Amino acid sequence: MTAPQTIDDLPTPVILVDEEQLDRNILGMQRACDEAGVELRPHIKTHKLVPVAARQLAAGARGLTCAKLGEAEAMLASGAREMFVAHSLVDPRQAPRVAALAERLDDFRVAATSGEQAGALENLAARTGRKLAVMMAIDTGLGREGARDAKAAARLAAVIARCTHLDLRGFYTHEGWFYGAPFTPGDQRVETMIESLCAARDAIDPGLPVWPGCSVTAQDVAARSTGRVQAVRPGAYVFGDLALTAVTGVMRSGEVALHVLATVIDKPSPGLALIDAGSKTFSSDRTPAGIFALPADGRDFSVSRVNEEHGYVTGAGADALRVGERVPFVPAHVCTVVNLADEVVVRRRHEVAARWRVDARGCSQ
Ligand SMILES: Cc1ncc(COP(=O)(O)O)c(C=O)c1O
Repeated sequence: MTAPQTIDDLPTPVILVDEEQLDRNILGMQRACDEAGVELRPHIKTHKLVPVAARQLAAGARGLTCAKLGEAEAMLASGAREMFVAHSLVDPRQAPRVAALAERLDDFRVAATSGEQAGALENLAARTGRKLAVMMAIDTGLGREGARDAKAAARLAAVIARCTHLDLRGFYTHEGWFYGAPFTPGDQRVETMIESLCAARDAIDPGLPVWPGCSVTAQDVAARSTGRVQAVRPGAYVFGDLALTAVTGVMRSGEVALHVLATVIDKPSPGLALIDAGSKTFSSDRTPAGIFALPADGRDFSVSRVNEEHGYVTGAGADALRVGERVPFVPAHVCTVVNLADEVVVRRRHEVAARWRVDARGCSQ
């Protein structure tokens, strides 16, 4: 019998998922939602993995949120019965795929994000020959899609009401602006956000649900929902990254479940080590302080610059690194890292437990 593979046997760069920590993160968020009586509809754009979606559903998630139709199609294999594609669909060519998803699922919803987009969505929906359930986007500060205030929401509701193939079923927001700075539970801005969402909803139909909640805010939103919020849709919490640890502080470093294992390949000058992972592994996303990745063990260096296949490691601890040394890093933004990988390696402590192909990798259509 051959000995089980360990992470020491793997070529780098490689994406490692700590299975036990992944499960703790899934169960922790689920518990917070269950205790508050709020549904969890996790966003799968972070992991793009059927086995992770299946674990989220088995833990109690009500349904899944996806960014694109391709992600939703890939996630059908998870057994999900409810999905929300939180994106501004406008292309009538997508009608057959939308119809197929609506046919396969018990509850399939898409986004209505402005009057003009709703008009295009109505045209798409008409081609499906069915009535599409829509969630209205409310912009609560990100400045991306959605009605900017309650009056704009009322106008959008009137447009949707005139669309014979659209059925308004609720409201959502993505409060991505909370990612810029440290977050403390009890932040008054969360209350303000919930109030503005509920005010927009109450003026249109008090019976409809509101679904805010990203990985920074979800537990706080759930804890203070008091019946006002029906679901949250966090994504990155399953793995964690520097956005959730070093920047906002809602996760501890020890709670991160995904690492990029990289090898030191050269030390060309004092204060600089080069690793074999660059922008084609970490992506080009960085923290507001300009950092692409930090070592998982807290040593005093960082990936401060990247080329495609090189990471520049600088900082006080860089000179102590040895050529050939393997270092696990926490990336700045985990969602873009997973989307660049063909597969992730699942580890149980030091052993390789499984290899998961990234099912929805590149499913951006
Ligand atoms: C519409 C929408 N919902 C939910 C999320 C989940 O956010 P996070 O991964 O920050 O938890 C995102 C993230 O971009 C989003 O765009």
